[in-house]
Amino acid sequence: MKKLSLSKFLPFPFLLFILTVPYIRITSAACHVDDEEGLLGFKAGITQDPSGMLSSWKPGTDCCKWSGVVCLFNDRVTSIQLYGQLDKPNSFLTGTISPSLSKIQDLDGIYLIDLRNISGKIPDLIFGLPKLQYIYIENNKLSGPIPVNIGKVTQLYALSLAGNQFTGTIPSSISQLSQLNQLKLGNNLLSGQFPVGIKQLRNLTFLSLEHNKLSGTIPDIFKSLTELRILRLSHNAFSGKIPGSISSLAPKLMYLELGHNALSGQIPSFLGNFKALDTLDLSWNLFTGVVPKTFANLTKIFNLDLSHNALTDPFPQLYVKGIESLDLSYNKFNLKEIPKWVTSSPIIYSLKLAKCGIKINLDNWKPAETYFYDYIDLSENEISGSPVSLLNRTDYLVEFKASGNKLKFDLGKLRIVKTLKQLDVSRNLVFGKVPTTITGLEKLNVSYNHLCGQLPKTKFPASSFVGNDCLCGSPLAPCKL
Ligand SMILES: *[C@@H]1O[C@H](CO)[C@@H](O)[C@H](O)[C@H]1NC(C)=O
Ligand SMILES: *[C@@H]1O[C@H](CO)[C@@H](O)[C@H](O)[C@H]1NC(C)=O
Ligand SMILES: *[C@@H]1O[C@H](CO)[C@@H](O)[C@H](O)[C@H]1NC(C)=O
Ligand SMILES: *[C@@H]1O[C@H](CO)[C@@H](O)[C@H](O)[C@H]1NC(C)=O
Ligand SMILES: *[C@@H]1O[C@H](CO)[C@@H](O)[C@H](O)[C@H]1NC(C)=O
Repeated sequence: MKKLSLSKFLPFPFLLFILTVPYIRITSAACHVDDEEGLLGFKAGITQDPSGMLSSWKPGTDCCKWSGVVCLFNDRVTSIQLYGQLDKPNSFLTGTISPSLSKIQDLDGIYLIDLRNISGKIPDLIFGLPKLQYIYIENNKLSGPIPVNIGKVTQLYALSLAGNQFTGTIPSSISQLSQLNQLKLGNNLLSGQFPVGIKQLRNLTFLSLEHNKLSGTIPDIFKSLTELRILRLSHNAFSGKIPGSISSLAPKLMYLELGHNALSGQIPSFLGNFKALDTLDLSWNLFTGVVPKTFANLTKIFNLDLSHNALTDPFPQLYVKGIESLDLSYNKFNLKEIPKWVTSSPIIYSLKLAKCGIKINLDNWKPAETYFYDYIDLSENEISGSPVSLLNRTDYLVEFKASGNKLKFDLGKLRIVKTLKQLDVSRNLVFGKVPTTITGLEKLNVSYNHLCGQLPKTKFPASSFVGNDCLCGSPLAPCKL
């Protein structure tokens, strides 16, 4: 390979001579020797390839035709694109990333996605590649700290190391990646603070650091990030308030995900200016006070999750035409009714209003469209009536939870659709027998009702059935003859 890389410096006629020598390997005409060597070096670092992802990578054949190899211009390899298929158990690669990739001088993209079992470190040499713009090494098992040298690849446009086992802090050298549009480091084991230097990445449209162990406050650095569309910081240990400069992200921001942290204070009213907001997740934090009235302007919101905070009434009137998923559970709300903008949604698939002070009769609740419903959680309210006609209209329901209400119905009349996995109607006024149709469920709880009769054979524990009037048979006491 050294011979041919030298060819760059050789006079043109001489180069022509080399390439036209008749017995030279055909590959050198179609695939640069350096590239072939770099790729075969990568292959040598792979110890298991049960689905044969790299089986076409054979010395002496045109590497531009190998699967997962792209040569955009002439004979030079410009990207490696290897994708595992998550639905196929043997679609993975075991091994490490060989530093020999650094021989592929025109490489602009490294895509090693869902290969699951590639481990070790990212070789530092890769960061010297002069044209490298895209690094997507997602859902593998890389570990160790994110190399500080990452700051050397200043032309980088996208960096994703999501879904690995990286530890340590996010290196501050990341602030040198000024062309960066996407920075995805979610689902790792990163700790320390949110790097303040991110404010220098003015072209950032996608920032995700979710599912790590980051802590401290979210710094007030968003004023310069006016292109940001997606901000994902959920499942960390961030504390303090939502910084005021997040308001600079209006109106472009579409996803704001801050759930599962320790954020506190009030929900800022400027969030109502986010006219393009699709998803807002503030769940599992310590937010207090009311939901701002300005939320009335979030007319395009599809997914709203404010569950598990300490938010209080009054909940504002919303004018959203089609909410898809809503979770207001476990706050201090007293909604009394299911909001009209929920009932009228033509596309809702998930409704969770547990412990929201709802006092309706379920027979009187007539949602406009039930076709898409997958999840319904109305636990811990004061709902009376029967879910029989609702569940008769939800053909693809996966979960129905309504424990701790005043529902009164014959369990035998409840339609259990094939898709249903979880049913919890414990602590209600349910009567009748336990039908055999429940045996296909994954989770069941009908405890503390007025059920009677012999139980069908099931895998559920006794705590699924206790506290009824006269249920009997395994796992409860045998029936008296
Ligand atoms: C993943 O790689 C490890 C070694 O790093 C190996 O022991 C293990 O068998 C691999 N997993 C699978 C599913 O092959
Ligand atoms: C950001 O993007 C613009 C246009 O898309 C480009 O001209 C500029 O060089 C990029 N980088 C920075 C640091 O602004
Ligand atoms: C909604 O936005 C309009 C203008 O953008 C503003 O005048 C109005 O006060 C806002 N409504 C609420 C409830 O904040
Ligand atoms: C359930 O729906 C069927 C039609 O799909 C209807 O015939 C039946 O009466 C309904 N049952 C209840 C209890 O609403
Ligand atoms: C069923 O619900 C009761 C009361 O809510 C609870 O104590 C019990 O642990 C639950 N059992 C199962 C299997 O979910």
